Amino acid sequence: MNIKNYIYILITLFLTSCGDDKLIEQVTFSEHIAPIIYKNCTSCHRPGEAGPFSLITYQDAKSRSALMKFVTKTRFMPPWPADDSYSHFIDEKVLTQHEIDLVVRWVDEGCLMGDSTKIPALPIFPKGSQLGTPDLVIKFREAYKIKGDAQDKFLLMRVPYEIPEDKFITTIEVVPDNRKLLHHVNAQLLSYEFDKKKDVFKGNVFINVDSFPDKLIAYKELGLANDDGTSFPMMTQSVTNYLPGVTPPIYPDGIGGFKLARKGALFLKDIHYGPSRVDTTDQTTFNVFYAKSPPKRPTQEFQMGTYGISPTVPELVIPPNEIKTFTSSYQVPFDISLLTINPHMHLLGKSFWAYAVTSQGDTIPLIKINKWDFRWQYFYTFKKMVKIPKGATIHTVGVFDNTRSNPNNPFSPPRLVADREGSMRTSDEMFQFIVTYLPYQNGDENVSLER
Ligand code: HEC
Repeated sequence: MNIKNYIYILITLFLTSCGDDKLIEQVTFSEHIAPIIYKNCTSCHRPGEAGPFSLITYQDAKSRSALMKFVTKTRFMPPWPADDSYSHFIDEKVLTQHEIDLVVRWVDEGCLMGDSTKIPALPIFPKGSQLGTPDLVIKFREAYKIKGDAQDKFLLMRVPYEIPEDKFITTIEVVPDNRKLLHHVNAQLLSYEFDKKKDVFKGNVFINVDSFPDKLIAYKELGLANDDGTSFPMMTQSVTNYLPGVTPPIYPDGIGGFKLARKGALFLKDIHYGPSRVDTTDQTTFNVFYAKSPPKRPTQEFQMGTYGISPTVPELVIPPNEIKTFTSSYQVPFDISLLTINPHMHLLGKSFWAYAVTSQGDTIPLIKINKWDFRWQYFYTFKKMVKIPKGATIHTVGVFDNTRSNPNNPFSPPRLVADREGSMRTSDEMFQFIVTYLPYQNGDENVSLER
């Protein structure tokens, strides 16, 4: 046996012995289950949050115990589509095998309470901001009315603002008003030149993506254009995003940041409200945090696939009753440091894989999503920056399932679905990989991106 195998076996023995829940005589809520739930579930499973029920008390957990066993065993919850045996990111939401085994045993052994005085204190979940006191709060001027028609809603929105002077900002925090229904948001900034748009507050602020097959028409309908009706303001790359349970992106000092123009708007894309059976509203706010100085190393972004710098191959057309694979590859022209990546597909997505291969033939794993879930489209930030050397090729592989056995298929019977030029409709498809990066600097790979 070579030394590598020997060390491997030693490590495995060590890990299995400390993770062996057989050593625990009785699995109890107070000592074993409550800590797991508070750390991994309660951020979403409490009143007013996105989770469909609370997981706080012993009764909460006991009454959902069979479902809890199922969703943890299948790794459906906590929601984290990225394969954690392939690559790691900050704020990873995954249970260890040991934690899963404990939940399973607890349920199988009849959900024992244990000594209730040993239940740990509930973590504190800040109400308004998770980051502190914002310097500026931007708000929807009118609430968005969510119809109680039990349908998912996908929108584009414009949230105009005007401030006394241009500012530099570190980040924008999305604070949903309707936490139950707001499921995801991706925001960019529009900067109007002062004399090109008289009144930023005029015009439509919401449109339904699905009623506008053409992107340009949608942008005009949403009042993004300047007063001349044809030219458009500067639009930044993605500035912030929201998913339940996600803290907004903040990179270490000196990295990232944006300019917030005196006259502008947040342009919200991919807004997804879950279905509601009653008429209700949402009036989300945006906490803006100013920076002391202009960004030293502003982040940059490119996209591969749809609207991207590298085409989807073959063209993204998915015939009915087929499972089809597409790729997009891009050769990096200079050394770059990756910070955050966002795989994006719609309802037919089945799996997504991205990796880079250097000119020496070394593979750099980026992300693997074995079971695509359109509801959980995280922006994944690496724990440390990942260097992609000049000449390396980033490869993305997306599999789409346009059969009846895909429960999210928008059409029954299945129809031909494609990436229609310029369409953002959810029933059309997209295959996109959004990459936030910096030109590489010595030592980047040692810079931690953890908060
Ligand atoms: C990031 C937010 C979030 C976290 C963290 C989270 N959940 Fe959920 N959970 C949800 C949402 C939202 C749903 C509704 C289904 C969906 O949208 O995927 C849900 C659904 C469920 C369901 C119902 C599944 C069904 O099919 O009816 C169970 C059970 C559940 N979660 C248990 C857990 C447990 C146990 C944990 C922790 C180990 C956890 N969740 C962590 C957001 C979360």
